[in-house]
Amino acid sequence: MACLFMVAFLFVLLLLVLKKLLWRRGHKSLENLHVVVTGGSSGIGKSVAVEAARRGAHVTLVARDVERLEAAKVEVVRSCLHPERQKVQYVSLDVSDNYEAIERALLCAEDDVGPIYMLVNCAGTAVCGRLEDMTVADIKMLVSLNVLGTVYPTRAVVPLMKQRKSGCVVLVASEAAMLGVYGLGVYSGTKFAVRGLAEALHMEAKPYNVSVTLCLPPDTDTPGFAVEEQSKPIETKLISESGGLVAPEVVAKQMVSDALRGKFFSTVGSTGLMLRLVCAGMSPASSLAEAVMQVCFMGLLRIVSLGYLFYFKHIISKCMKNREKTKKLE
Ligand SMILES: NC(=O)c1ccc[n+]([C@@H]2O[C@H](COP(=O)([O-])OP(=O)(O)OC[C@H]3O[C@@H](n4cnc5c(N)ncnc54)[C@H](OP(=O)(O)O)[C@@H]3O)[C@@H](O)[C@H]2O)c1
Repeated sequence: MACLFMVAFLFVLLLLVLKKLLWRRGHKSLENLHVVVTGGSSGIGKSVAVEAARRGAHVTLVARDVERLEAAKVEVVRSCLHPERQKVQYVSLDVSDNYEAIERALLCAEDDVGPIYMLVNCAGTAVCGRLEDMTVADIKMLVSLNVLGTVYPTRAVVPLMKQRKSGCVVLVASEAAMLGVYGLGVYSGTKFAVRGLAEALHMEAKPYNVSVTLCLPPDTDTPGFAVEEQSKPIETKLISESGGLVAPEVVAKQMVSDALRGKFFSTVGSTGLMLRLVCAGMSPASSLAEAVMQVCFMGLLRIVSLGYLFYFKHIISKCMKNREKTKKLE
């Protein structure tokens, strides 16, 4: 028994050493580089822009509402490492519409500030509800913002990065890109699409020294999350509440640092780690340490995931019974 513990201890130690070594090797600076953040006027996107400015980057914020962009720009400028030489600008643009306008705007941003080194696709939203309760307008909006709103800016910037043989693309999905959850069907579908895009793009861009990072934020305390809460069925709230709520700054710090290290997955917390290991499937492994962890823990974590699925099923049938009881009383 003691021998088994010793082997397990040495194995974990080896993983930690590997992780540390690989961490240091890939770490890069953002100083004087140009970072574009779509959805940069609010929530996770705004925190990413602040984090990039703190690390010395020039920042372009992209969103639609000019007042919110102005306010975000003030915050980003305040966070600059070298305020005298860092440039911060914004572009008011709908990233889900009119590809040519998006391409023009991003080329203009390059002319003004310099070659785009990092593109962070944060613009996105969630509307919850069982499939039959979703309006067709909401379904179209979700698909066009979460999918096309990520594909279009990426499509415009990737050829430039490939030409320069340098760059990072970050695609912000969600933990819901790894599992479908009651009441999040359409949202999950759009985020699964972003995951597929990220995997394919990783294969296409890596030979050109362009990295792709898929960010899977947990529930995060943002204005967007507050709106999402209003449309959440009780089942969805009960299923997701065990994960708690994370600050956008935490997600942003992790995302920027993972992107700079060229990691494929960027997650926060133990649920994120579990999902990234158990759902790895044919996803790229960013390091030997990550691959070893996936191989060792995937089977074990599948047992844990079955436990979660059983618990979710229990929540759903309990809510259904309560609903039927209330209907009978009415
Ligand atoms: N918060 C969470 O719990 C959570 C969890 C997992 C994943 N995520 C994902 O993380 C991303 C950011 O979420 P968040 O909660 O930070 O959102 P948020 O606070 O609502 O911010 C959304 C940002 O996107 C911009 N935007 C919306 N539609 C746009 C469009 N058509 N064109 C350009 N910009 C647009 C918004 O500005 P304008 O409205 O002015 O355009 C705003 O700057 C989303 O992709 C979301 O799905 C969030």
